[in-house]
Amino acid sequence: MKKQIQAVKVLGTGSYLPQKVVTNDELSQTLDTSDEWIYSHTGIRSRHFAAPSESSSVVGAKAARLALESAGVKPGDIDLVLCATSTPDYGNFPSTASLIQAALGCQKAAAFDLAAACSGFVYALEVARSFIACRDEAKVLVIGAEVLTRSVDWTERNVSILFGDGAGAVVLGTCTEEDAPASRSILGSDGTGYEFIYREGGLKREPPTSKVWPVPYMQMQGRAVFNFAVRKLDEVISKLCADEGIAPASLRRIYAHQANARILEAVARRMKIPYEMFYTNLETTGNTSSASVAIILDEAVRKGELKDGDQIALAGFGAGLTWAGILMRWPYL
Ligand code: COA
Repeated sequence: MKKQIQAVKVLGTGSYLPQKVVTNDELSQTLDTSDEWIYSHTGIRSRHFAAPSESSSVVGAKAARLALESAGVKPGDIDLVLCATSTPDYGNFPSTASLIQAALGCQKAAAFDLAAACSGFVYALEVARSFIACRDEAKVLVIGAEVLTRSVDWTERNVSILFGDGAGAVVLGTCTEEDAPASRSILGSDGTGYEFIYREGGLKREPPTSKVWPVPYMQMQGRAVFNFAVRKLDEVISKLCADEGIAPASLRRIYAHQANARILEAVARRMKIPYEMFYTNLETTGNTSSASVAIILDEAVRKGELKDGDQIALAGFGAGLTWAGILMRWPYL
């Protein structure tokens, strides 16, 4: 009799986008910009803004509830709540994951946040997979949650127009299927590029003597980030495919971080694959950082376009600099 091997599997997905939609035309009423400029440079037409009562833990919990529902898993059965976010409710602690754990009632779960910026959700999937692999059986709620519209300066046009709010989540668990396919992953970082995209607000410097802290808005060198993203996405997806012995064009789909359609077009040209291989929704979401890959996975599942057995790549890139990729046969991690 063959030994049954425990494999890690996505049991369910969920996502949440706040109700308020802000179009490029609306932005151009207060910013020196236009729908034509934003769309031609990014592919973005509109984005969602969290309501004042919606923080990352709130949007994250909304997405997580839907993921638990679709997985048929009770909050009390979750062993770990892992939240990737660049916009935590509190500066450092408590973690946003702990707040989500409390909101959902995942009483027996450990909880912590993962900070890898826009690579965060793909990083978190790999961390969760490793956590499960070290246990006999475990269920992990992996969440990407962001309220990025609060982290940018809406009086300047270079950075703000790119970002939106939202959250996505998956529930991971185990199965014992004899032929469950194994995934491959790449996680990387190059901290020498930290100044390309950063947001202050930590304790790098002495705190100001006044009790009023300056609002730390995101700073970015757009062109440098663009070039890094194109090069790294190509490298990560090409290496995953080469190691698997397949051509990138044979993938069913690529679920990459939704930063800018022009980045994905440039990657497609470089890799000589059709642009349509990339799943995109950024036209109506903007860049939701660590939430973006989780949101598009859930969308694809709910539309019925992501089917069991599909060989797909997930990829993220962002501040750090960081990058991450996973090659998998849905829903096996
Ligand atoms: N509306 C109108 N004009 C704008 C503008 C806006 N929202 N933002 C910038 N401009 C202007 C600039 O002021 C500049 O004008 P100038 O030539 O008179 O100085 C001109 O457009 C070109 O600016 P530049 O920054 O060179 O544009 P770009 O083609 O590099 O596009 C980004 C800017 C931000 C869209 C692009 O660099 C990008 O997407 N980078 C990656 C960012 C990203 O994805 N970050 C997150 C990674 S996770």
